[in-house]
Amino acid sequence: MTKILFVCLGNICRSPMAEFVFKDLIDKKGLSKIFLVDSAATSTEEIGNTMHIGTRKKLQEKGIKFTEHKARQIKAEDYEKYDYIIGMENRNINNIIKIVGPDEKNKIYRLLDFTNSPKDIADPWYTGNFDITYEEIKKGCEAFLEFYLSKNNNEKQL
Ligand code: 4NP
Repeated sequence: MTKILFVCLGNICRSPMAEFVFKDLIDKKGLSKIFLVDSAATSTEEIGNTMHIGTRKKLQEKGIKFTEHKARQIKAEDYEKYDYIIGMENRNINNIIKIVGPDEKNKIYRLLDFTNSPKDIADPWYTGNFDITYEEIKKGCEAFLEFYLSKNNNEKQL
């Protein structure tokens, strides 16, 4: 099983959106059983809180199922537990490393680095724009899944 942890600053807007968008993608492809998908924050600001209403509304609008969510902060042990730790922006990456230590096993990525337009995903907590966030997260999740599948198919062929 491949374990994926999406990470943002608060774990109420972007990373839970990525978690449920990715779960929806793998569900539609019949791949749910090979992945464990979760999300976490770098900050302590929103610990215990549910998803932002903007994220919930967007997921509902797109027909993407989600379950109860409680924000949590990433912890040092998560580095060993997860295979991919995927941040939304460079600041997340820096803060993840502050918590888990140096990325010696190359597990830490920025989501849109899997796409042809590598950049940070703006924080809708500040921008209020959940439409752009959704489109970017969807592109990033699709690109990550493509990357993952081509990497693993290639490994099987070796
Ligand atoms: P997120 O957005 O990192 O996409 O979940 C934020 C949510 C809350 C805060 C910051 C960003 N906050 O400072 O409480």
